[in-house]
Amino acid sequence: MHPPQTLYLDNPNSAVVILDQTLLPHTIKYLHLTTISQVWTAIKDLQVRGAPAIGVTAALGLYIHMKTHAANSADPAAFAQEFKSASAYLSTARPTAVNLDWALNQMYICYQANKHSPITEIINSLHQAAQDIQTNDTKICRRIGQHGAALLKHDMGILTHCNAGALAATKYGTALAPIYIAHEQGINLRVYADETRPVLQGARLTAFELHQANIDVTLICDNMAATVMSKGLIDAVFVGCDRVAANGDTANKVGTHGVAILAKHFNIPFYVCAPLSTIDMSTKTGTEIIIEEREPAEITSLWYTSPMAPKGVKVYNPSFDVTTASLITGFITEIGIIKPPFNL
Ligand code: MRU
Repeated sequence: MHPPQTLYLDNPNSAVVILDQTLLPHTIKYLHLTTISQVWTAIKDLQVRGAPAIGVTAALGLYIHMKTHAANSADPAAFAQEFKSASAYLSTARPTAVNLDWALNQMYICYQANKHSPITEIINSLHQAAQDIQTNDTKICRRIGQHGAALLKHDMGILTHCNAGALAATKYGTALAPIYIAHEQGINLRVYADETRPVLQGARLTAFELHQANIDVTLICDNMAATVMSKGLIDAVFVGCDRVAANGDTANKVGTHGVAILAKHFNIPFYVCAPLSTIDMSTKTGTEIIIEEREPAEITSLWYTSPMAPKGVKVYNPSFDVTTASLITGFITEIGIIKPPFNL
């Protein structure tokens, strides 16, 4: 069985349709987003999440917004203004994943190339650009999977953190893509999924999608990674990422840095899987990456039947951390395994 589809465009109804990931693993419910504020909220609230999926959703959302705008006004200046402000608004939904801005920029490049055409042609071009971002994501993730699968042999143990699987992209994902491709090739792996506090993307999403795909997955709490590594159960770590700085420092779900430090201690290769679009050459080092901080309630009360912390206690909830480049064995991308300095 395949994981349910993460998102798609319902063009006749001008809707971006997303699987509501906040309800997984127990409820499969699709949301039809028809306004730009619904798209923004779905990204902000993690109903759709994972760097590539956020980018594709934003591109499709911008397209449907401009299509709706064009149906009400044919004025090119108003169109230009609306495109600019809608794109700027979507960009604020989440700060760390560079794919959000990357995808919006792809849409901008398309708009710039077509801005002197009739509005209907601009809309057709934006439609094509958004769909290309979606289609290319699937192709790129499959290539990441093929390059990563070349590292894998029967019965290897792989540790992963958060969810960088099919649910974080249009298909395959990044860190889970090598695992899916190896599975297609008949290579059986043992995957260990960190549950990933506080939002539990590992438990709710990674364990769910691998289990559905009949891949051997074992769920562990985040604080058990050292235990499974010390027992010799882990041969490699594969994680995804939200932004890679030019020097290779890598932002990913909080807890990734700790896993990388452990991997170094136990001499286990630590791979970051990412499309080239996640490498942000304009960010020099990891210290420049903006780390999203989220609601204290994610730590104190989310998932609990009653709060598990004293009322009013101070909470620090950074959603991502930065893994130092020196801890990363290699970056598995669509063009192969690369290391900084990147020649992009
Ligand atoms: O907060 P999330 O769930 O969007 O965080 C997702 C991650 O950290 C993923 O590892 C990353 O986006 C890569 S997804 C291919």
